[in-house]
Amino acid sequence: MRRAPSTPACLLLLLGLIASGCTKPVHPGDPISGLTREQLDRFRRGRAVFDTVFTPERGLGPLFNAAACGECHENPVSGAFGDEIEVHATAFHPDGNCDPLAAEGGPVIQQNATPALKAALGIDKEPSPKDATALAHRSSPAIFGRGLLDAVPDSDIVSYADPDDRNHDGISGRVNRFVDGRVGRFGRKAFVPALDEFNAGAFVIEMGVTNPAVPTEESIGGDSIPQGVDPTPEPEINQEALDLTNDFVRFLAPPSPLRQNGAAGRGRRLFDRIGCASCHFPTLRTGKNAVRALDRKKFFAYTDLLLHDMGPDLADICLGLATPSEFRTEPLVGVRLAKHFLHDGRADSLEQAIELHGGEGSGARDRFKALEPKDRKALLAFLKTL
Ligand code: HEC
Ligand code: HEC
Repeated sequence: MRRAPSTPACLLLLLGLIASGCTKPVHPGDPISGLTREQLDRFRRGRAVFDTVFTPERGLGPLFNAAACGECHENPVSGAFGDEIEVHATAFHPDGNCDPLAAEGGPVIQQNATPALKAALGIDKEPSPKDATALAHRSSPAIFGRGLLDAVPDSDIVSYADPDDRNHDGISGRVNRFVDGRVGRFGRKAFVPALDEFNAGAFVIEMGVTNPAVPTEESIGGDSIPQGVDPTPEPEINQEALDLTNDFVRFLAPPSPLRQNGAAGRGRRLFDRIGCASCHFPTLRTGKNAVRALDRKKFFAYTDLLLHDMGPDLADICLGLATPSEFRTEPLVGVRLAKHFLHDGRADSLEQAIELHGGEGSGARDRFKALEPKDRKALLAFLKTL
């Protein structure tokens, strides 16, 4: 005779399900929780646009870095890290002014050209701007949780800045601003204010795919595109494709940290104690937002979205108000999946990335180096849970 499970067993099972429902881990590549059915559908359809491989017939080029968003943000899931390294160039003038060299094709120097452009001009990439004072390499980062970062109020970011280091902790932190004065937050130099602007720009800058928000192609080192080389009419994708991509990117969640027991738990406390958390703020909070899942949410960020002077060894280009040595605190969400670290991927391990912190980061770096070996290990174990 089959017996129905006893009530306590049912109850326990139910309670277990409820409990696991509350703390259900968010895996890399998952959407943020609390989306409506329609938003979830747009997230999935947006991922398909993100992963679309463009051809010259569909709008790729004439200059480009890669043929799909998902070619650079891909490993191990769409929206994660990539192997591609880009070339950026700007000119930093002695008076402190930064020229993004738009008139010479900057700041992003595309490394590929379509067959039609090759045939017309005999070039296989964009020429380097002659007035550049520095070139920079940029590794392809994961873009987890950027929709939440987008929804942090400007006033919060401004309130974290301490440009004159009034509290004397050796860490100042400055806000970057776009050309029109808005607070910047995206890109390694925190130059771009809003996520949808970054995405629309990426279509053109990375792939040569024009869209309703950015309807014109990049120049070829400042020169116009030869006749007949890019016959696809602008915009090369429509508003819906752009909106879907934006929804995929803004709904892409920061993955939950792995369990932090033992050493990793100790590492988390050390991260606070030796001052890593003075820049890598573990959590931030979004402001009021029309999307419920983004409305006043506390989330794992591990950044303050500010620029910090990281010393001469890491310095490369200026961008906006950011001087060559200033970089935005890199959000560490998903860093357990990264294989190379820092803006140009020069560090092959987390330990090396920490040891290369200079400038405002040198105090925390020195305290890290002064830790007992087992404490250093604990801190690294913690980072490997993020
Ligand atoms: C050729 C490789 C490549 C392609 C293609 C590419 N990206 Fe990126 N992406 C990068 C790199 C490199 C950066 C870092 C730029 C920087 O440091 O300023 C980046 C940064 C970003 C960021 C900002 C992340 C942050 O932390 O501020 C977003 C968002 C983004 N990409 C979205 C996209 C979207 C959407 C597409 C397709 C339209 C795309 N990317 C195509 C390489 C790429
Ligand atoms: C003064 C602010 C500051 C402090 C303090 C700081 N960091 Fe950073 N951190 C940054 C900035 C800025 C970057 C990006 C630098 C770059 O890309 O060249 C970064 C990058 C990193 C990266 C590389 C992330 C990636 O995906 O490439 C790791 C790992 C890291 N920090 C860990 C730490 C740890 C651990 C500590 C404490 C020992 C620490 N940081 C202290 C500002 C700081």
